[in-house]
Amino acid sequence: MASEESFKIIEGEELYRKLAMGEPIVVLDVRTETEFANSHIPGSILIPLHQLENRLGEVPNSGSPVAVVCEHGIRGVSACRFLAEHGIGPLYNLTGGLQTWNGPTEAGTDGHWDRNRTVAPARFLVENFDLLPRGLALDLATGEGRNAIYLATRGFDVDAVDVSADAVARARARARRLGAPIRAVVGNVEDGTYIIPIESYDVIIVFNYLHRPLFNDIRDGVVPGGVVSRSHSVTPST
Ligand SMILES: C[S@@+](CC[C@H](N)C(=O)[O-])C[C@H]1O[C@@H](n2cnc3c(N)ncnc32)[C@H](O)[C@@H]1O
Repeated sequence: MASEESFKIIEGEELYRKLAMGEPIVVLDVRTETEFANSHIPGSILIPLHQLENRLGEVPNSGSPVAVVCEHGIRGVSACRFLAEHGIGPLYNLTGGLQTWNGPTEAGTDGHWDRNRTVAPARFLVENFDLLPRGLALDLATGEGRNAIYLATRGFDVDAVDVSADAVARARARARRLGAPIRAVVGNVEDGTYIIPIESYDVIIVFNYLHRPLFNDIRDGVVPGGVVSRSHSVTPST
């Protein structure tokens, strides 16, 4: 049998921080479907412990760490041992289980792994981070701020805007919690109540939001040599 050293223990706060900072961790929930439907970490994959043997092939095994979560951290130990015996890892077990998780949760039955629905930043942004000139960034339609926070954790000075006051409040709270301050404001980028200042940002990012009439304003908002990054492209300004 694999020893306990074949997996590490992780606290909820640490897991939350790692996800928010863009570490490519797969979150595997091994509770029952009912428990999962009540509340789970957004974007986690559901494979109940008793089904793990038959569904082993569904566990993403690209070498990225897998964080196993259950209700109290007990089933997670069994799951980690089983996964380690079958060559999957590196592995974390969420100690104390979801009872100790203070990060975002959602209800529902969609238990398919979806990295973009966790608190993690957009994969495209993480993969192209090195192309971005450091300095002042703006995240348009920031939502709950996952991408703005990611840039802030990596040394950017970050402004963010979203039309939803609730989303902005959550973005601010998350950023504070992670020690990655952002200046998030409520604003509507479509009706002229929020205007992108001209030649002000080294980087402007826009993910999962499209309003074509904004294209010129976005281009004008970056300094010469700055960069615009949207869901699937990184464009230097001229
Ligand atoms: C699908 S979410 C994307 C959030 C974030 N960019 C991300 O990728 O996680 C789209 C966001 O656009 C915001 N939004 C929609 N219309 C907007 C507008 N006119 N001005 C500012 N934000 C807007 C919504 O409130 C929502 O938070």
